[in-house]
Amino acid sequence: MNTHAHDSIRAVQWTGTHLRLLDQRRLPHESVYLDMDTAPEAAVAIRDMVVRGAPAIGVTAAYAVVLSARQAWSRDPSHWRDAMQADLDTLAASRPTAVNLFWALAHMRRLMDRLPDGVDPTGELLLEAERIHHDDIEGNRRMGELGAALIDPGKAVLTHCNTGSLATGGYGTALGVIRSAYAKGLIPHVFADETRPWLQGARLTAWELVQDGIPVSLLCEGAAASLMREDRVSWVIVGADRIAANGDAANKIGTYGLAVLARHHGVRFMVVAPTTTIDMEAADGSAIPIEQRGAEEVLELAGKRVAADGAGAWNPAFDVTPAGLIDAIVTERGVVEQPDREKMLALMSGR
Ligand code: MRU
Repeated sequence: MNTHAHDSIRAVQWTGTHLRLLDQRRLPHESVYLDMDTAPEAAVAIRDMVVRGAPAIGVTAAYAVVLSARQAWSRDPSHWRDAMQADLDTLAASRPTAVNLFWALAHMRRLMDRLPDGVDPTGELLLEAERIHHDDIEGNRRMGELGAALIDPGKAVLTHCNTGSLATGGYGTALGVIRSAYAKGLIPHVFADETRPWLQGARLTAWELVQDGIPVSLLCEGAAASLMREDRVSWVIVGADRIAANGDAANKIGTYGLAVLARHHGVRFMVVAPTTTIDMEAADGSAIPIEQRGAEEVLELAGKRVAADGAGAWNPAFDVTPAGLIDAIVTERGVVEQPDREKMLALMSGR
């Protein structure tokens, strides 16, 4: 089977004039695209989860820098860089955990600083944003191959949150490995956690897999221990929002619990993420900022309160899985098995 046959979803697009985002809050029932004309609009879209998933947030930020430059240049060609600063700050404040956002902003900033004065920067910045987008997809395909090569044939796998085309430039990280492994006949079935409170698994991962014709069963996160005890999965395969220099990996809340369960049951644990998700300045997981989101996300379901009146909620959006619980980190540059500081440094420095 062609591994790319069903890779048609592009959650982040450049229309030629605008940034176009698939509104992921409305999936799977409606496919509605929103066009953005300014960087602050894109920042609100990131904050409000129109677009989500670490690599997709990074790609969105890169295009948002283009929108900002276009507006700044048209207003005052002699001070376009200064005029963009507020937009860059707004984008950086949109969500704190996924480091791809900060990577993309720093990358675009470095290009801005190299561009000549007196020349419209929009074209060059757009080319770079498109390159970031393209490289993300290529990296995902490479990770798909590398990750699939770790999987022995025959058993199902478990995934968490959404890490597919919707969460990336296209194809996906963990879901990219699952796509590639399924296409090679290595896995017959995918189990997907529904992923409370945003239900990325139920609404997004299941949607992507059904479109690809890959058999998927949803489960409540609380059922993962029983799934493993019944020996139904060989790997847990997840993405990451930020990986620290020692291999600790932040990902959607609930991931850490899965890693503990996996170790207990002898199930292997794979983290799939591009090197743009690795933050060598974070010494370990304790340096990764964890986003706290509103209590209403836990207290309500589909906008309707389900919790008892008077109850509060604790709603961290991510948790950190210690490197010691991870069997393999798969990146586009290669696989790090049993990750630690030295191996991560070797990966990042090309040693
Ligand atoms: O809050 P979200 O939906 O942005 O969280 C997304 C995740 O945690 C993903 O697993 C992660 O970004 C990797 S996506 C390839």
